[in-house]
Amino acid sequence: MTVVSAPGKVTLFGEHAVVYGEPAIAAAINRRVRVEISKRADGAIRVEARDLMLAGFKALLTATGSITLEGESGKVLAALSYVKRAIEVVREAYGVTVGAHIAITSEMPVGAGLGTSAAVAVAVVKAYSLLGGVEITRRECAELGYRVELGVQGSASRMDSTVTSMGGVLYITPRGEEPYRELKVPSSVKGLVVGYVSREASTGEMVARVRRLKEELGEPIDLAIRAIGEVTRKAKASLEKGDVIEVGRLMNVNHGLLEAIGVSTSRLSQMVYAARSAGALGSKITGAGGGGCIIALAPGAEDEVVAALRAVGASAFKVDFSREGVTVEES
Ligand code: MEV
Repeated sequence: MTVVSAPGKVTLFGEHAVVYGEPAIAAAINRRVRVEISKRADGAIRVEARDLMLAGFKALLTATGSITLEGESGKVLAALSYVKRAIEVVREAYGVTVGAHIAITSEMPVGAGLGTSAAVAVAVVKAYSLLGGVEITRRECAELGYRVELGVQGSASRMDSTVTSMGGVLYITPRGEEPYRELKVPSSVKGLVVGYVSREASTGEMVARVRRLKEELGEPIDLAIRAIGEVTRKAKASLEKGDVIEVGRLMNVNHGLLEAIGVSTSRLSQMVYAARSAGALGSKITGAGGGGCIIALAPGAEDEVVAALRAVGASAFKVDFSREGVTVEES
């Protein structure tokens, strides 16, 4: 049996603006998706993914002809469609046809904005290609993971698939010659807390909503998106200096701009302000918004922030950065 894991991520700066070519800063976190894979002699593909779904359920993907999904609920099928596409992408790229039993577990909520779908896509791409005897690099995993996200969502940036493949804190530059650069962030930048409430709209819907607002209102939204880019450029320097006070202030500015482009909800804003009142230096939505997650930077006040977020009805947990991208844990 082979075991492959891939980390979730938080976007520290620049979500949504990255779709329009502005930079973003995202970090892999110490919460992972794990994929166990073994060969099946009958050529079929069977997937067990109890953690990726709301009610206990098993999905069966049959590999006779095209892969089909069987399941009970739309959300479950949405999560599993990343698995299905990942297998198809590896088949197209490397001609792998082997049958497989795949079991997936996740230490993160699905669809929350922590990059779980990209982590699933990349871990399955790595695990299934290995099973077929093909060794692929982390960069190749990022490229194929991006193709999976694009295939399932219709539109996506390379941010999530790159971070989960490479690990670390990455400065993503969609218009740059190099698509990303790893940032050296001093250990003084710590004390991250994530707050989570369920989503009201998917990432794809939120991206489409911003696009509509941009088309309808024009310049003010264009300016807000460019301003997010400026905040992100400045935050890169603050992070590299380890200036947590400035990083926190810039997170607050970034949140204000995310409010301006219409991706907050009253619950997310309540969580953002609860975190600041409990001692966070900065807090903002992380990910696409419309529900989902907020991130707070609260060195020394992590427990107070977790308690404050729980007091307003959110789930909350502390996270650390992780340097480990997609990793073969056992083979
Ligand atoms: C979602 O985690 C981040 C967005 O910028 C979409 C993307 O970059 O693909 C909203």
